[in-house]
Amino acid sequence: MALERTFSIIKPDATARNLTGAINAMIEEAGLRIVAQKRLRMTRDQAETFYAVHKERPFFGELVDFMISGPVVVQVLEGDNAIAKYREVMGATNPENAADGTIRKAFANNVQENSVHGSDAPETAAMEIAQWFSGNEIVG
Ligand code: RTP
Ligand code: MG
Repeated sequence: MALERTFSIIKPDATARNLTGAINAMIEEAGLRIVAQKRLRMTRDQAETFYAVHKERPFFGELVDFMISGPVVVQVLEGDNAIAKYREVMGATNPENAADGTIRKAFANNVQENSVHGSDAPETAAMEIAQWFSGNEIVG
């Protein structure tokens, strides 16, 4: 299996409830390595750029408001098959559909406040990592 990197965000609903460590423990228990991490507040411009793919969706405005409503933790995760593996660990977008043992099942409030983001493909992972980290901030 290929060693891959994926981009993760611990979202404002989770940082508000002091869940960074609990989520990081689930990430590490799944065999993923946190090779970069920082806590920050997104600007509106940064959030709009990050979620540009959803610009036409009805929830875009609300999503941007939510993502800038409090601190987030942005991360790079590394491991075998990291992109698909982290999507599995996160669980379904809507926590009502998320499997037992997933981060969203354990912690998400609802379909919007769903605690974590993870890249969905190698191309988006590369773009998302490049938006938030310079090469020398990622130490594998
Ligand atoms: P993410 O991008 O955050 O990893 O989540 P995802 O792939 O599972 O979900 P996606 O379809 O990409 O949606 C991005 C984020 O938008 C919010 N959302 N709200 N109100 C709604 O119906 C709705 N649908 C999606 C969620 O925060 C979702 O994670
Ligand atoms: Mg997505």
